[in-house]
Amino acid sequence: EKGGYPHFMIKEINEQPRALRDILTGRIAPDFSGVDLQEVSLTAEQIKNIRKIAVVACGTAYHAGIVGKYVMEKMLRIPVEVDIASEFRYRNPLIDAHTLTVIISQSGETADTLAALKEAKARGSRVVAITNVVGSSIAREAHDVVYTWAGPEIAVASTKAYITQLLGIYLLTLFLGKELGRIPAGEMTDILHHLYQLPKQAQDILDHLNEQLNKMAEIFNQWEDTFFVGRGLDYAVALEGSLKLKEISYVHAEAYAAGELKHGTLALIVKDVPVLALCTQPDVFEKTVSNIKEIKAREAHVIGVAFEGNKEIGKSVDEVIYIPETLPLLAPVLTVIPLQMLAYYASVHRGCDVDQPRNLAKSVTVE
Ligand code: F6R
Repeated sequence: EKGGYPHFMIKEINEQPRALRDILTGRIAPDFSGVDLQEVSLTAEQIKNIRKIAVVACGTAYHAGIVGKYVMEKMLRIPVEVDIASEFRYRNPLIDAHTLTVIISQSGETADTLAALKEAKARGSRVVAITNVVGSSIAREAHDVVYTWAGPEIAVASTKAYITQLLGIYLLTLFLGKELGRIPAGEMTDILHHLYQLPKQAQDILDHLNEQLNKMAEIFNQWEDTFFVGRGLDYAVALEGSLKLKEISYVHAEAYAAGELKHGTLALIVKDVPVLALCTQPDVFEKTVSNIKEIKAREAHVIGVAFEGNKEIGKSVDEVIYIPETLPLLAPVLTVIPLQMLAYYASVHRGCDVDQPRNLAKSVTVE
């Protein structure tokens, strides 16, 4: 049932190119002029009335939601707030008929996320769910559903579900952006062409980085602490990379917006401590590099993650993980893969139960 792989997690990591292909199938217009989301029945009128987008989820799905905030605000110029479901439901949220609520959940059964959905509906908000499980409670309660078609995810640590949640966010954003007339035709085509390349690029990462990441993960045999830093979309992925490592290898990992380090966390950066520095966003690249210099001044061991062809990064870090180049907007889909693999190999090297980490359940149906 593990298809020849030793664990479900690595099987599911390797299924990601296929999962990306499946979520895109039939959804990109053949002439690359827009996306087809037939299942979303929002009318042009309803879309024009959206004043705010509220994204609500837990855990990994929440991290996908943070990517969603950056992506939707940039493309749609509509304010987006992202909430952890267990916070949203108890804080009397400012949600009304002019709010579009986007609920993200792999299982479609997470108790707090389902309750948040009901809360948003009760306040008159229209709800779109991005979920993997057809007929799940969240799929049934939402007004519209974007299915992620990742297939069953067995490992407790979410991988292919996350990556397809990201795709769900891009598709929904492009759909809304087209309706609102906020995305110029040339930009739409360019994004769609790049989306279409992602499955192949994900496969390249799996084929070419496996050995390097397996070896690199040995560093976590010696370290109980590590840091993930980045700015913008890289920060959003840093959050997910650190959760993956904590969850399955029990290495304590902190994700920080790179510019925030000097407000306290730099005190924890000591000689040789591993720091993953994500550097895929060109508009903040120089800023991140200056943060890396602050980290290097404390003699930490810095591993950069950057697009192939980025020669600059090599001058500032100890090692580089190179990923295939895509649009900065789409980088999270590729950046997260080496981080998932590092977490996986760290867990294996440390002798942990990869698929069933201690204290965790796949679907959290209690509050
Ligand atoms: C982490 C993980 C969890 C889930 C969270 C939400 O790898 O899998 O953080 O993302 O429990 O679950 P869903 O998406 O089913 O609502």
